[in-house]
Amino acid sequence: MSHLISPSLLASDFANLQSECEMLNKSEADWYHLDVMDGLFVPNISFGMPVIAAINKHTLKPLDVHLMIENPDSYIKDFKAAGANILTVHYEACTHLHKTIHSIKEEGMKAGVALNPHTSVELLEGVINEIDLVLIMSVNPGFGGQKFIESTYEKVRKMKALITKNGADTKIEIDGGVTSANAQKLIEAGADVLVAGSFVFKSDNPLQTIADLKNV
Ligand code: DX5
Ligand code: ZN
Repeated sequence: MSHLISPSLLASDFANLQSECEMLNKSEADWYHLDVMDGLFVPNISFGMPVIAAINKHTLKPLDVHLMIENPDSYIKDFKAAGANILTVHYEACTHLHKTIHSIKEEGMKAGVALNPHTSVELLEGVINEIDLVLIMSVNPGFGGQKFIESTYEKVRKMKALITKNGADTKIEIDGGVTSANAQKLIEAGADVLVAGSFVFKSDNPLQTIADLKNV
């Protein structure tokens, strides 16, 4: 299977979300990446359920919702109601991760777990067969437009080996600083899904930029 592209709307024009969604509908993007930040887990606040529900009215592809929030368990049903198809929580924010994963799946969503740059892939061994997606942060979460952390390639290789060893079919998603300069190397290391915010939305031709990332 070819890799998937999930443009992050964090870098889009919030005053024109409908037209940004229509552009993505026409593009080769596979998913829409939506970054929810609460000002507690990360030092920034983005948007929440009402904005996702509004976006959902104009989208034709799965909503890939990345929760950078404390206590995600309290909001699982709300994100389902807002239209989330894939719901990713942070390992570092979940005391009872196994339970959280099952709560997400019980709501009929795909379950993802995100790892901060300092969090080791081995910590997911106990749940790797239960999750649909691992999101490897390739910047510290909280802001778009940051520089890609080069040690990510090795982390992706380790994650891929752990998935293979356990016979799991978990997808690996990379988030932060993704551009056409690192996309090929990430895919070679084992990445299945590339998130790109600034590289897509700050480019002169987002449709072409998405096509370029899709066809590396
Ligand atoms: C960062 C977010 C990312 C962000 C990526 O905390 O999780 O999804 O939007 O933005 P770029 O691609 O600009 O690094
Ligand atoms: Zn994200």
